Amino acid sequence: MSSDGITRRGFVGAVGATAGASTILGAPSASTAAPPSEKIRLVLIGAGSRGNQLLDSFLPQNDVEIVGVADVDDQHAAKTAERVKKAKNNQPDAARDYRSMLDRKDVDGVIIATPDHWHALPAIQAVLAGKDVYVEKPVAHNVAEGQAMLRAARKTNRIMAVGTQQRSSTHFQRAVEIVKSGALGKVFWVQTWNYENISPTGIGKYPDGEAPSYVDYERWLGPAPLRPFNPNRFHLLFRWFFDYAGGMMSDWGVHLNDIVLWALGAKGPKSVYTTGGILTSDDNRDTPDTMQVVYEFPECVLTYSMRKGNGLKFNGHDYGIVFCGTDGSLMLDRSGFEVIPDKTVLPYGIKMVHGDRPLRKIDLKPEKARGVDGQDAHVRNFLDCVKSRAKPTSDIEIAHRSTNTCHLGNIAYKVGRKLEWDTENETFRNDPEANAHLKREPRKGYELPEV
Ligand SMILES: NC(=O)c1ccc[n+]([C@@H]2O[C@H](COP(=O)([O-])OP(=O)(O)OC[C@H]3O[C@@H](n4cnc5c(N)ncnc54)[C@H](O)[C@@H]3O)[C@@H](O)[C@H]2O)c1
Repeated sequence: MSSDGITRRGFVGAVGATAGASTILGAPSASTAAPPSEKIRLVLIGAGSRGNQLLDSFLPQNDVEIVGVADVDDQHAAKTAERVKKAKNNQPDAARDYRSMLDRKDVDGVIIATPDHWHALPAIQAVLAGKDVYVEKPVAHNVAEGQAMLRAARKTNRIMAVGTQQRSSTHFQRAVEIVKSGALGKVFWVQTWNYENISPTGIGKYPDGEAPSYVDYERWLGPAPLRPFNPNRFHLLFRWFFDYAGGMMSDWGVHLNDIVLWALGAKGPKSVYTTGGILTSDDNRDTPDTMQVVYEFPECVLTYSMRKGNGLKFNGHDYGIVFCGTDGSLMLDRSGFEVIPDKTVLPYGIKMVHGDRPLRKIDLKPEKARGVDGQDAHVRNFLDCVKSRAKPTSDIEIAHRSTNTCHLGNIAYKVGRKLEWDTENETFRNDPEANAHLKREPRKGYELPEV
């Protein structure tokens, strides 16, 4: 590991930050071929499904070189390294263990697309080694890990961007601008949701067995409890088990609640209550398939509704966000948004008791936009921040708070009661049992470094 914590890019960044903008302004645009000295050299940690989706955006960047691919699954590492070689004409290192790659002085940053329980450790080790980080959402497996990542990023002054990419999409930006402008009137109710029908088979039930020979399964488990290999608790499907992730709440809910916090200008709710269970799936998941989470903000209620046993869409959308204000609503997902003006009515009986009254006129104009999820722009934003040292659009602090809303929803589900949340101190008020869920003891050998 680098002894001084300053890599090639870190040094350029430090000079750029202190010696004026010339280094930054002089940087070539991404659309023209960058000279080798201006290239950002990255290592991909976790070359599964998402790691390869991210390469769709990283590989076309002319100022990016992928110099290493680390995956505990040899097949994923080899296949992805081959893909990089074909796209970029350079042969990246491929290894099971990313740590030797963090020792390389010519590496500027890492892309982390491992399962949630494997976000905090490599992210913290990377910034301590002087690397910048793009880490996937949700930020971490639990609140304490997210706090440690934030501390580490700030202590080392490294970029830590998180893969909540919707923030980089222009129609999400416009939608948030509309909500913030007050055009919807007083926004007092927001709903986020994910609906689909996978009942009853879901992910099925499979017996424990032998891990494939080409996988370092012990290291895949990492900080999670040691247990026999089960294909349902491994690649892709890990997200349905609390040992490694947080179910649909964290997997998808984080994208939705992230936009809500942004639009409300909030750091977190003041309370949370969750009800739900495994009501329609006959598989071996341990995260709920049915969930209703109610968050209270000072002047607004947010509900996250999730069901996997019925796919009836809400106003034509199987997932999304709706902001409800006294003048109208804004319906939002990755395909676009729609502003729907409201109309007021006279309350029941008022005509007979008090006589006719004029209705309040609402001036809100309908507006529609189409959109995309924002991944390409989000990746570009990270790369630009590596050069400029500016805070990324989804800086770790922002995404940590959005991720916390998901941890809160899951913790309220586990303890089964309404919890009061202290947003500043990131603890539950007067609730040692709920507070115990904010962290977990990692397995020996996978503890986070002290920061
Ligand atoms: N931003 C988005 O829209 C988005 C979309 C999908 C997934 N994700 C996130 O990406 C992450 C990965 O999800 P996925 O669907 O790609 O899972 P996946 O199982 O397909 O891929 C994870 C990869 O990480 C590897 N891995 C596990 N431990 C490792 C370690 N210690 N070192 C190196 N490699 C290791 C696995 O072998 C696997 O190849 C999750 O946190 C998920 O929430 C984000």
